Amino acid sequence: MSATHPPCAASRTLGADLGERTRATRGYAGLVPGEWFEWEWDETLFAGAAAFYDRGRLPNAPGLAAAFNDTFGLDGQGRLLDVGSGPGTVTLPLAGLFREVVGVDADTEMIREARRLAAKRGVMNASWVHRRAEELPADLGRFNVITFAASFHWMNRPLVAGIVREMLERPDGAVVHVDNRHQDGLAPADDLPPAPTERIAELRRSYLGENRRAGQGIRNSSPGDEAAVFRAAGFAGPELVVVPDGRTIIRSADDLVAETFSLSASAPHLFGERLSQFERDLRRLLADASPNGAFAVRLPDNELKIWRNATP
Ligand SMILES: C[S@@+](CC[C@H](N)C(=O)[O-])C[C@H]1O[C@@H](n2cnc3c(N)ncnc32)[C@H](O)[C@@H]1O
Repeated sequence: MSATHPPCAASRTLGADLGERTRATRGYAGLVPGEWFEWEWDETLFAGAAAFYDRGRLPNAPGLAAAFNDTFGLDGQGRLLDVGSGPGTVTLPLAGLFREVVGVDADTEMIREARRLAAKRGVMNASWVHRRAEELPADLGRFNVITFAASFHWMNRPLVAGIVREMLERPDGAVVHVDNRHQDGLAPADDLPPAPTERIAELRRSYLGENRRAGQGIRNSSPGDEAAVFRAAGFAGPELVVVPDGRTIIRSADDLVAETFSLSASAPHLFGERLSQFERDLRRLLADASPNGAFAVRLPDNELKIWRNATP
C-alpha cells in the first residue's frame, strides 16, 4: 500500500471546516505535511482495530460511573449518547445509570464489537448506530448526557459541537469530554519495565514510514483548543471533575500487541501482506524489552470536562 491516497470524495464536505483550518494555518510560518487540518477522514481509519481494542487499550478509572452519577444526580431515567463510542468503552460502564444508552461510531467493526461486548456483559439498554458524528442528529432524539471519549479530535469539531448542542435536553443536558489522559505520558511502576513505546514507534516507522498514518492519509498532529470550539458553539464551561486512578497495571506482550493494533497509526490494514511479519518483529522486540514478558504502568487520573448550554 502506498503512503498516501487521495482523500475519499464523500468525506471531503465532512472534514475539518474551513474556519478551523484557517485559524490553525495562521499560526504556522511554513506548513509541515500531515497537519491535522489537511487530513481527510475515511472509513479505513480504524480498519481491523476493533477486535484488539477491548484487550489492548488501558482501562478507564474504576470510579468513572460513580463520578457521572455524583456529578449529574442520575435517576436511571435519562438517555446517554456516546459519540465515537468505539466498542462501547465508555457507553457500557455507564449503561446502568440511564434508561437508554446509544453509541454512535463511524466504523462498522467497532459497532459489531460493541454489540458483542454488550451481549457478553448483559447490557440490555444499549443501541448502536453506524454513522459519522457529522451526520447526526439522525432522528436519535434528545439526550441528558452526551459523551466524547478519545474521539472528538477525529471529527469536524465545530460542526459536531453545534449539532450535539441541539440534541441536549434543556435546560440541564451536558456534554462531557472523557479524557483518560493516557496520551499524557504514563508513569513507570514496580520493578517491571514500562512498555517500550518508543521502540514500538520506531518499528512502526520502519514499516510504514516517518509520517503517522491515519486511514488512507497521514496525520502528524492533533487539534488543540477544544475549549474555543465548544464556546464558539454556544457552550459554557468546562467544569472539571477528576476521577482518581493511580493503579499499577501489569501488561503482557499479548496486551501490548493488541494495543499496537488498536491504534489508528498502526491499525492492521496499514501493513497489508506484511502484517504477520510486523507482528513477529513486534513480539521479538517485546521479548527483548522484558524477558519474562511482563510490563507495568501506573494509570493517571481521568478527567471529565463538562460543557453546558450557555443559553439553556
Ligand atoms: C480512539 S477510538 C475511542 C473509542 C472509545 N470512545 C474509547 O473511549 O475508547 C475513536 C473512535 O472514534 C470513531 N470515530 C472517528 N471519527 C469519527 C466520526 N467522524 N464520527 C463517528 N465516529 C468517529 C472511530 O471509529 C473510533 O471508534
